[in-house]
Amino acid sequence: MIELKNIHKIYQTKNDNVTALNDVNLSIDDGEIYGIVGYSGAGKSTLLRLLNGLEKPTDGEVSLAGKALNTLKKATLRKERQKIGVIFQHFNLLWSRTVLENILFPLEIAKVPKSKRKKRALELIKLVGLEGREDAYPSELSGGQKQRVGIARALANDPKVLLCDEATSALDPKTTEDVLELLLDINRKLNLTIVLITHEMQVIRRICDRVAVMSAGQVVEEGKVTKVFRNPQEEITKQFIRQDTSADSEDTIAILHELAQKYPEGKIARLAFQGEQVRNPFISKISRTCNVDINIIQGNVQESQDSTVGSLYVQVTGDTEAVEQALAQIKAFDIEIEVIDYA
Ligand SMILES: Nc1ncnc2c1ncn2[C@@H]1O[C@H](COP(=O)(O)OP(=O)(O)OP(=O)(O)O)[C@@H](O)[C@H]1O
Ligand SMILES: [Mg+2]
Repeated sequence: MIELKNIHKIYQTKNDNVTALNDVNLSIDDGEIYGIVGYSGAGKSTLLRLLNGLEKPTDGEVSLAGKALNTLKKATLRKERQKIGVIFQHFNLLWSRTVLENILFPLEIAKVPKSKRKKRALELIKLVGLEGREDAYPSELSGGQKQRVGIARALANDPKVLLCDEATSALDPKTTEDVLELLLDINRKLNLTIVLITHEMQVIRRICDRVAVMSAGQVVEEGKVTKVFRNPQEEITKQFIRQDTSADSEDTIAILHELAQKYPEGKIARLAFQGEQVRNPFISKISRTCNVDINIIQGNVQESQDSTVGSLYVQVTGDTEAVEQALAQIKAFDIEIEVIDYA
């Protein structure tokens, strides 16, 4: 288990102090995929650097498997750090070495006997699906393949934890899907704990078990991914979800504003549902029983790690009481509602 307790990180620069983390508390279970999402400058990379012991907190405690990093001797800390692999947005490969040589490199550093290195590297190449490309140079690989090399290299010394800093941010959507699939696969095969930071809610939805939403150095919301998607509490979380469901596109927002002005008595809402609820014809039922019109503005059904999550943006119009009654009935179907004011 990874634990962060009351973590503060203040960077001292020439002219002032920058608070990068402000009282962060998190615990990450063994074998889970834990996502951290936030906009640029939220403190995500700082947090990751504290996890692998590359930097020290100004205050608070980081512990791995019950051991507080700040109490470890240098040699022990170095050993502990070997149990943590890291992958990056820009892959950080050695450009003058082949795929195989890139993967051999961490084994050389860890002084694995020469006779064992090549066998291990070839196993890793197979694990990440790069068979046949052993002798290629990084410049001859696609972005997705480069990240596969990054993953193989990070796993070379059998880490318990893999930290991913925007590992898919430089990749196109299809390649992102493939790399996320690979991460999910190795998480299951190796029971590897994965901590993944990103500014894309889609990445969180696809493979994470739990998520922490960060803003200005703090964790503002935390929980199981399906729960947070169904019932986000903070405005920033709602924004990330709208980004993922494409409901923040200019076209959709323009339509929402137009409808809000045209039917000022109506209510615009995001309905969030999960699993079997996707198949319930609740819209026509409620429209009939409550005597309201329900205009579907935008909707989608998306896959999460263990379920499907659906979002539907609707406008409910009719007389005020009927609209209220319809919203109450939707809730009674166990569908989460977030009423959004677009006026
Ligand atoms: N070495 C440093 N010295 C001074 N300030 C720093 C340093 N590293 C980070 N910061 C500051 O700490 C804050 C958090 O930075 P951090 O890199 O952790 O954010 P992030 O969430 O990873 O952002 P991004 O999504 O852009 O990578 C920012 O205000 C940043 O300017
Ligand atoms: Mg960063």
